[in-house]
Amino acid sequence: TFESRTTYQWNVPIPSMRLLLLNSGPVATLACGDLNSPLTGADMSDTESMVQDGDNGILIDSDIIAKISQSEELADEFGTEDNSTLRVIDCEGKAIIPGFVDSHTHLLWEGDRSNEMQLRHKGLTYSDIAKSGGGIQKTVDFTRSASIESLTKLGQRRISRAFEFGTTTMECKSGYGLTVNSELKLLEVNQFLSEQTPMSIHSTWLGAHDVPKGTNMDDYVDELINVQLPAVVEQGYAEYADVFCEPGWFSLEHTELIVKAAKKLGLASRLHVDEFVDGGGLQLATELGAISGDHVGHSSESARQSASDSGVMQTFLPGTPYILGHNLETPLRQCIENNWPFSLATDFNPNCRTLSMPFVGSLATHRLGLSPIEALVAVTRNPATTLLNSTPGQQVTGSIREGGPADLLILDSQYIDAWCQMPGDNPIYRTIKSGDIVN
Ligand code: NIG
Ligand code: FE
Repeated sequence: TFESRTTYQWNVPIPSMRLLLLNSGPVATLACGDLNSPLTGADMSDTESMVQDGDNGILIDSDIIAKISQSEELADEFGTEDNSTLRVIDCEGKAIIPGFVDSHTHLLWEGDRSNEMQLRHKGLTYSDIAKSGGGIQKTVDFTRSASIESLTKLGQRRISRAFEFGTTTMECKSGYGLTVNSELKLLEVNQFLSEQTPMSIHSTWLGAHDVPKGTNMDDYVDELINVQLPAVVEQGYAEYADVFCEPGWFSLEHTELIVKAAKKLGLASRLHVDEFVDGGGLQLATELGAISGDHVGHSSESARQSASDSGVMQTFLPGTPYILGHNLETPLRQCIENNWPFSLATDFNPNCRTLSMPFVGSLATHRLGLSPIEALVAVTRNPATTLLNSTPGQQVTGSIREGGPADLLILDSQYIDAWCQMPGDNPIYRTIKSGDIVN
């Protein structure tokens, strides 16, 4: 398959500890206000405080941005040639933006569901396909029988792909095992990938993705709370709990039981809510103090307002309705007008096979009314604020500033806006993760 042909390349050794970027075009620093809080409303397009015009230079020392200054100044101080401790990149006027933070992915699963498009074409819905042996259960069958080695290889290739598209931080869910051992297997691979690749990975337990074949809902919720959750917590494998809270899958009542049990054991939650209909999921997520309500395509206006009042992020995943042929109308403009915090993510999964944040940015700008800079905030510093609790003492990512983490992208354009203007193509020239060139 295509996936088995792609190779990973992040372990290419770089010759030095310091990296000097010279002659850059504009830099979208996004470094204004409180970096621990999302930007909302008009602040999301305040280019004056968020964009620095060229001709800039950036000095990276190990994994930290040491200095941002006029290119000429840095060239005078450090030179323009590689030496034993310094590698120089001439950006030739290309724009620079922060690395993307993809805050909702189902990274690990095996199998292929490309046949489902044909079924949708015949008129079957997502739920019809699930009931007729496709959907999540089909992926579960493949994933349960996959070895740790094969899942690890898939994870490495997908991470390499994500680096190519500019993602430097990802949230990764389990959820295609649905037994204690297979869920632990997925989370263990997440953990391994987090240690063995440069990607920053935040792991989420999604045992409550579906009810496994041969079990009933009540028994499974019981197993989730009394077997899976304690085992996951004991291993220390996950930072978050997630539930697919949607009519036909997990009810509000069951979601509440699972989220409260997880909270007791120290796991915060990020929840799949209101994907196909308004089931009151975002309202519940808010009442339960979730970090984020994800999908939220059909949430009510009042639920969005309460989410915002309580500091709950709305994470939109427009790639999924795009793939399913659903109406893309997602109230991103309304979020801006009402100062509701929101993020955008890929929802990479066997049904929505994109790891490209630039593609999501294209949907947001070409179809959903955001400007490129607003969309950029929604894929960088805003989602970064939902992934804070797990990294005590670690610098928040999603912006470009002196002393901050060196997670940044050199675009293949002199314009910042290019980041989301090449659907089907890749606008990223170089991905720099923790000071290393990974693409
Ligand atoms: O976020 N909606 C629930 N889970 C995934 C899709 C799962 C699947 O179809 O495999 C999602 O879209
Ligand atoms: Fe999802």
